[in-house]
Amino acid sequence: MNIHVATKDELSVDVLGSFLSKNRFLPYAEYGIPLDNLVNYVIGDLRDSEEKGASVLLAEENNTVLGILSVVKSKWDSNHFGTEIANIRYLFTLGDYLEKKQHTKELLSHLSRLSGFSLLITRTHTEDTPLIHALEDSSFQLMDTLVTHYFDFKNKVVDFKETCKIELLKDEIPELKKIARTSFSEAKVATDHFHADRRLDEAKSDALYEHWIEEASKDKESIVLVAKINDHPVGFTTSGLNHRLNSYTSKKIGTLILSAVSPEYRNAQIYTSMINATLRWFSDKADIAELGTQIGNYPVQRVWPKLGTKIVRSQNTWHKWM
Ligand SMILES: CC(C)(COP(=O)(O)OP(=O)(O)OC[C@H]1O[C@@H](n2cnc3c(N)ncnc32)[C@H](O)[C@@H]1OP(=O)(O)O)[C@@H](O)C(=O)NCCC(=O)NCCS
Repeated sequence: MNIHVATKDELSVDVLGSFLSKNRFLPYAEYGIPLDNLVNYVIGDLRDSEEKGASVLLAEENNTVLGILSVVKSKWDSNHFGTEIANIRYLFTLGDYLEKKQHTKELLSHLSRLSGFSLLITRTHTEDTPLIHALEDSSFQLMDTLVTHYFDFKNKVVDFKETCKIELLKDEIPELKKIARTSFSEAKVATDHFHADRRLDEAKSDALYEHWIEEASKDKESIVLVAKINDHPVGFTTSGLNHRLNSYTSKKIGTLILSAVSPEYRNAQIYTSMINATLRWFSDKADIAELGTQIGNYPVQRVWPKLGTKIVRSQNTWHKWM
C-alpha cells in the first residue's frame, strides 16, 4: 500500500468521491442528508483545512483509495496548554475488519514519522470497532465518551415554561467566566478529555472553559444566552449554526456547545430553561439542533428528553502522546 501526502488536486470528488461514499460514519449521516452533499462537505472541509496547514495522508493500492487521514494543529489548545496539540479530524479506511484495522495502523504509523506534534487527539464512533482496535494497538488512550442528542424542529414544539429570565449576552462576561471556571473544575459534573489526561496540567484544564466562554463572546457565529435571577447572571449557554455544512445542503443544523449553571443555583430548572430558550432561538433558523455531553453527565441527559430530544450518536475521544 502506498501512503503519501495528498496534493490539492487529489482532494477532489474524482479521487475521493467513491471512497468517501462507502464510509458509514460521514458527519451528519444520521439526518438523511443526500450522500453527495455529505461527500462534498467532507471534501470541502479537507481542502479548507489543507489551505490552513492541515496534512492529509492518502493510502492507495492499484489506483484505489483505501484510506485517508487528516491532521490539523489545534492552535488554540496548543497555545493554552503550551504544547503542540493536533486533531485527527478524519480517519476513514475501507475493507473488512482486518483490512480496516491494518490500513488504519499503517496511516497512523506514517503520521508518527511525519508529525512534530506532542499530543494527537481523535474521536471515533463507538460502533467503529476496527478503528478503535487500531487506535488501541497504536497506543492511543481512551479519555472520554460523548453522547449526542438532536431536536427535530419539524416534529417537535418548544414549549417548556422557563423558570428564569434568559437574555442575549450584553456585558456579563466577567461573571460568566467565574461560573465557567467553577463549573468545569471543583463543581464539575463529568470529566472531559482534557481533565482525564493526567499529562495535561490540571490548572490549565480548569482554566480552559473560562477562556472558551470569552472566545465565544467574540465569535460572530456563536450566540451566548445568559440566565438571570434578580438581574444577576447565574448561567449561560453557547451555540451556533454550522454555516459551512449549510452551504452544501438545504438541511440547517445548529449545535448547542457549552453550558453551565452556578453551583448555588443548580437543580432549579435553570439549565432546562436555558436549553429551552436556545431551542426557541433556533426554531426559525435550523431544521435540527444537536446537543452533546460526556456519557457520565447525567443531569443534562435527564433534561434533554424532557424537552423532546432523541439520542443520535455516541463517540469516544482518544489521546496519544508522541
Ligand atoms: C449540568 C448543569 C448545567 C445542570 O444545571 P441545572 O440548572 O442544575 O439543571 P436543571 O435544574 O435544569 O436540571 C437538572 C436535572 O438533573 C437532575 N440531577 C441533578 N443531579 C443529578 C445527578 N447527580 N444524577 C442524576 N440526575 C441529577 C435533576 O434532578 C434535574 O432533573 P429533574 O428536572 O428531572 O429533576 C450544571 O450542573 C452544571 O453547570 N454542571 C457543570 C457544567 C456542565 O456539566 N455543563 C453541561 C455540559 S456542557
